[in-house]
Amino acid sequence: MQLLEESKTQTVLVTGGGGYIGSHTVKALQAAGYEVVILDNLIYGHRDLVKNVLKTKLIEGDIGDRALLEQLFSTYSVAAVVHFAAYAYVGESATNPAKYYANNVCATLTLLEAMVEAGIDKLVFSSTCAIYGVPDTLPILETHDKRPVNPYGKTKLMVEQILDDFDRAYGLKSVCFRYFNAAGADPSGDLGEDHMPETHLIPLVLAAAQKRDSVSIFGKDYPTADGTCIRDYIHVSDLADAHVLGLDHLLQGNSSQKINLSNGSGFSVRQVIETAKAVTGRPIEVVEEARRPGDPPALVGNSDKAATLLGWQPRYPELVDIIDHAWQWHQKRHSSNHS
Ligand code: UFG
Repeated sequence: MQLLEESKTQTVLVTGGGGYIGSHTVKALQAAGYEVVILDNLIYGHRDLVKNVLKTKLIEGDIGDRALLEQLFSTYSVAAVVHFAAYAYVGESATNPAKYYANNVCATLTLLEAMVEAGIDKLVFSSTCAIYGVPDTLPILETHDKRPVNPYGKTKLMVEQILDDFDRAYGLKSVCFRYFNAAGADPSGDLGEDHMPETHLIPLVLAAAQKRDSVSIFGKDYPTADGTCIRDYIHVSDLADAHVLGLDHLLQGNSSQKINLSNGSGFSVRQVIETAKAVTGRPIEVVEEARRPGDPPALVGNSDKAATLLGWQPRYPELVDIIDHAWQWHQKRHSSNHS
């Protein structure tokens, strides 16, 4: 207990802390008593959220900038790194893989080398269920074969493999969290999802509700009950809680782990749209389109390991709450500076 109390006054570097999952995790880390320094190049991260909501130190720069990292690690006494900074558009990763391998793999390698040189040996890494590809069985366990079907998923799997080798060679301990579909927003309405461009289903459905516009359904002939893809939506604040627990796990001297984060229940695209209609009280027109290349028919995760190893339990497992929080945020964000 004494050790845990002491660890919570430690400084954590969060790369990509201005992004969607990163910003929610910074808030959770602060609530748990950690000091946070953010490193974000702000290509996709949001300065206003870091400045006005998180109110923490922001270093504007790149994870591939070795000199900057050395300076950062000599300025701050960093106990651990929580690493989100990455490109995450699956489609773009297929058309421009060089961008993804350069940033998600090569720049991450630079970060890891700088950590080893500075003697920082704990990392929480933002991985993805995309490393499993098209699964053989549902719900997916951590031990399932890894067969990513796009460069984005491959970059995340490569980093997981690099981390295995860095543990063996340099003793760098890591927790890799494999997220299923991150969704929702901080219940306060102060933080949420704001991608540019936006490709994710729930924010696009809510934008359609707000603008009285339509949303596309990509594929209606999948082998699922209603013919549309099934995903396991997990609240972003629940992901954030898991990162705090993962960090505690490492700071208590425990071993490296790979852990799924999911609710264990799947919802189809049509079910998401119906739930959004109920939450918003608005009609949402749909346009049925062809399948989007590379979409697995169904992804549902088993997160028993997160529960047993870390004591993690989602606080907002209901899809209606996930969409309601996203809707609160969406209205606030898009009625102010983004309308
Ligand atoms: N979809 C639509 N219409 C849209 C957008 C999405 O029908 O306008 C469908 C997709 O085809 C998919 C589902 O809604 O079946 C969810 O799509 P998202 O783009 O919201 O999420 P993905 O499942 O494609 O991607 C998420 C993460 C990725 C991660 C991937 C793992 O965003 O980072 O899960 O499969 F790699």
